Amino acid sequence: MNTYDFYKKSADYILDKINYMPEIGLILGSALGSLSEEISDQTIIDYKDIPNFLISTVESHAGKLILGKLREKNVVCMSGRFHYYEGYEFEQLAIPIRVFKLLGVNTVILTNAAGAINKEFKPGDVMIIKDHIKLTGESPVRGKNIPELGPRFFDVSDMYTKSLRDLTKECANELNIDIKEGVYFYATGPQFETPAEIKAMRILGGDTVGMSTVTEAITAAHCSIKVLGLSLVTNMAAGVLEQPVTTEEVDETGEMASEKLKKLIGEIVEKIGNR
Ligand code: HPA
Repeated sequence: MNTYDFYKKSADYILDKINYMPEIGLILGSALGSLSEEISDQTIIDYKDIPNFLISTVESHAGKLILGKLREKNVVCMSGRFHYYEGYEFEQLAIPIRVFKLLGVNTVILTNAAGAINKEFKPGDVMIIKDHIKLTGESPVRGKNIPELGPRFFDVSDMYTKSLRDLTKECANELNIDIKEGVYFYATGPQFETPAEIKAMRILGGDTVGMSTVTEAITAAHCSIKVLGLSLVTNMAAGVLEQPVTTEEVDETGEMASEKLKKLIGEIVEKIGNR
């Protein structure tokens, strides 16, 4: 069971390399890692050098922590994240966000590549996550509670913070970016879903489906970090079209739409806390 000191060891190692405390944390999904190029005054730390941190095993995920300034805000950005399908336990997936908390982060922006369950969506769309559905039993904050981080039981009815969702809509409007809002359905992967699973998810109220983000959002809610979640629709989910879901499509659409998402996130970061 990880303790407060376990996370503090990682955070102290990172804080030792910078002379500020980042206020915004960014965790970028597959093919969206190039967003981190916009960060200035970069301090780059390999995950493998951070004590008690995890190591990324997915090729398209870079495996580096990038600290610096984005639109005048101090940020910490994970270029490459950790997923359950890589073999990590849910409790391990709490590590990045808990370390962020101890670095001083008060807001996280989580992005993911996702399949569209909602037939009105199309590849390239960006969806603000309003809420999520996770039907697997585990929780990243299961086990002995760490009261320094948050309470045993906690409310998650505003986990995807409304003020951040409103701000995102404003920014998207200003930038003329069409923006959707909906429910992210968590799937453990690594296999994509079956058409029957997607149909069930649609009946249950899911709009996009993906294999990340929820562990981070739950961990953030536990330690009172505000969350903005954005899904980039990279493909129609299984069974929506008469074609298979492919990694190539996911990666290509991710690349194509990443400029749009970069602009949007830049604008959001600029405006966070200014109102
Ligand atoms: N399913 C699950 N995860 C995904 C998908 C999908 O269709 N597309 C991108 N990530």
